[in-house]
Amino acid sequence: MSDGPQSWRSRFPLLANDPALCYLDSAAMTQVPQVVLDALVEHESARRANVQRGTYGLAEAATEAYDKARESVRRFLNAADWREVVFTGGATASINLFAYSFGERLGPGDEVLISEAEHHSNLLPWQLLRQRRGITLRVLPVTGEGRLDLSQLDAVLGRRCRLVAIAHCSNVSGAVTDVEYIVRAAKAAGAAVFVDGAQYVQHGPVDVRALGVDAYAFSGHKCFGPSGIGVLWARRELLESLPPCFAGGGMGGRVTLEGHSLADIPHRFEAGTPPVGPAVGLGAALEWMVALPWAAIREHEQRLTKRLLSALTAAGDFRVLGPTDMRARLPIVAFGMDGVHPHDLTQLLGQAGVCLRGGHHCAQPLHAALGMEASVRASLALYNSDADIDGLLEGLERARRNLR
Ligand code: ALA
Repeated sequence: MSDGPQSWRSRFPLLANDPALCYLDSAAMTQVPQVVLDALVEHESARRANVQRGTYGLAEAATEAYDKARESVRRFLNAADWREVVFTGGATASINLFAYSFGERLGPGDEVLISEAEHHSNLLPWQLLRQRRGITLRVLPVTGEGRLDLSQLDAVLGRRCRLVAIAHCSNVSGAVTDVEYIVRAAKAAGAAVFVDGAQYVQHGPVDVRALGVDAYAFSGHKCFGPSGIGVLWARRELLESLPPCFAGGGMGGRVTLEGHSLADIPHRFEAGTPPVGPAVGLGAALEWMVALPWAAIREHEQRLTKRLLSALTAAGDFRVLGPTDMRARLPIVAFGMDGVHPHDLTQLLGQAGVCLRGGHHCAQPLHAALGMEASVRASLALYNSDADIDGLLEGLERARRNLR
């Protein structure tokens, strides 16, 4: 694909139908391209049936489509085996599943290391595990730029650490974690590594084998797919060693009133009817993504981010969060405006068709570490252009005049 952002925008019906809309909330939810909508309609109108149960043609076609979606996830992650891919309801469900199942073998004396930058969805499941199993939660602090402070890693990553659970990219500062560095340190300490990839995946395919991680989670609605679908990937030996978290139809082997055996992975982690249509939609989104020219897209996203960062810094009355080194960040820009509540700003800009998120973004510890209650966040994706940045900057200028 050799075309540019205007043509990428044209592939997203919601954006194409509203040319003036400045959609800058892709960290919360990306828009859906026509190719994914087509796949969803095609599945629901030609192949809708339950999966892994029926032996009639329609049910077999539905099962085949569901299996194909799993293979698309495997390819997107460069995972070794489709059996390593578990479909869930979203990244939050994936993290909870992993925290519960991995946590079943932990107890007092065992440590899990997270960071101060985590979204609540990669913090609260571990706090619940601490309540349930008596583990110790250790925390890697952030620098003033909101990056993980790797100089503190040795101090918090001890021999009792069983798992490092960190985000690939912060949903507030846009800071990207040096996962390979963390993996090297974790392996040396004998700990496994789980990565919350929710904010990373919309910016390109991931190579879980090259990263060397043990488990990885993400959501469909943040990588151009439907909502209500997510993925937990884990190395085959690890996944096989974990107890399931939910029980019900499809996850058991032989079942009697006295007991049951487990189905093979990944089915033992997918009790009940899975989100078949959303999985098919996610598969279509990932197939579409792997064919995109990511080097050009990254350059485009970086240029827009740089432009936004420079304009906010030059304006003088914004406090901009996140790394100044463009190589260390993705296009998520959070900022505060002196004397103005983020919600007042997002409401005012929202009325002008500029879609931003304001608040603590489910990352209260990170805001506390950076000395702020809340922030305004602009998050960009491949379909954004200079027109969106113009709309945001003009809206901020108007807000400066009206709110002061
Ligand atoms: N986790 C999503 C966000 O940061 C909803 O906006």
